[in-house]
Amino acid sequence: DLVNPRDMLVEARRGGYAIGAFNIHNLETLQAVVEAAVEAAAPVILQATPGTVKYVGADYLVAMARVASRRAGVPVALHLDHASDIDLIGACLEAGFTSVMFDGSTLPLEENIASTRQVIVMAHAKGAAVEAELGRLGGREDDLDVDEAMANYTDPEEAVLFTGATGIDSLAVAIGTAHGVYRGEPRLDFDRLKAIAARVSLPLVLHGASGLPDAAVARCIALGICKVNIATELKLALAASLRATLAARPEETDPRHYFAPARRAVKDVALGKMRLCGAAGRV
Ligand code: 13P
Ligand code: ZN
Ligand code: NA
Repeated sequence: DLVNPRDMLVEARRGGYAIGAFNIHNLETLQAVVEAAVEAAAPVILQATPGTVKYVGADYLVAMARVASRRAGVPVALHLDHASDIDLIGACLEAGFTSVMFDGSTLPLEENIASTRQVIVMAHAKGAAVEAELGRLGGREDDLDVDEAMANYTDPEEAVLFTGATGIDSLAVAIGTAHGVYRGEPRLDFDRLKAIAARVSLPLVLHGASGLPDAAVARCIALGICKVNIATELKLALAASLRATLAARPEETDPRHYFAPARRAVKDVALGKMRLCGAAGRV
């Protein structure tokens, strides 16, 4: 069945590798990611944003993820990504999500702490884990749109205070990554990550990992990142494959004929990221 990702993340931090956390949007993308995890023999985190929960339904997501995890034979967690609505978090926990991210990064610190604590009580009562974010990532994901000027980096001292005051299971850090594609080479603040990792022993999460050079991802992992979030690169692979198939065969109407290659394309991207993260062969 679906697992709480806490242990896999703690083990990854200890072992100096990272778990890939992949945003899925439907049956095919969920299957693609889990097939990649099976092929890689890697633990995996499936994640869905509030927008995806509204599109698919929390119960459908849990049902699909459960079936996939039973078939997989590798640990599979289901995580709610970037949620700020407490009611939606409650509904997803009720439905069977094994992890949630409370994104209070828009709130003043005291309010972020208070709301995060509230979410922890709800989640831990259900045996689920809680990720929270300190600092603010730039870029765009679903309804979450933060322009560069609004983005700000995680402060290492604040991270100590925040993790101590809340009791979260993992911490998402802002060190210069952004959601979506990058215009130009992203400049990451590795020294800041090193300073955070030296003070915070919890699993650290890298958002916005699509579009980063492999070397940058590897360096982040060496410095303490143990969950790597990938959304955009899967979406690009899916859309590119669908476009190519339908352009080459405009008469094609059988969904299986255009989804099968698209699912393979998504799987290939996920597999590459699992290997990059060092998660392959950990099961
Ligand atoms: P990307 O869209 O850059 O892959 O970011 C994913 C992410 O952080 C999901 O929370
Ligand atoms: Zn994110
Ligand atoms: Na990105």
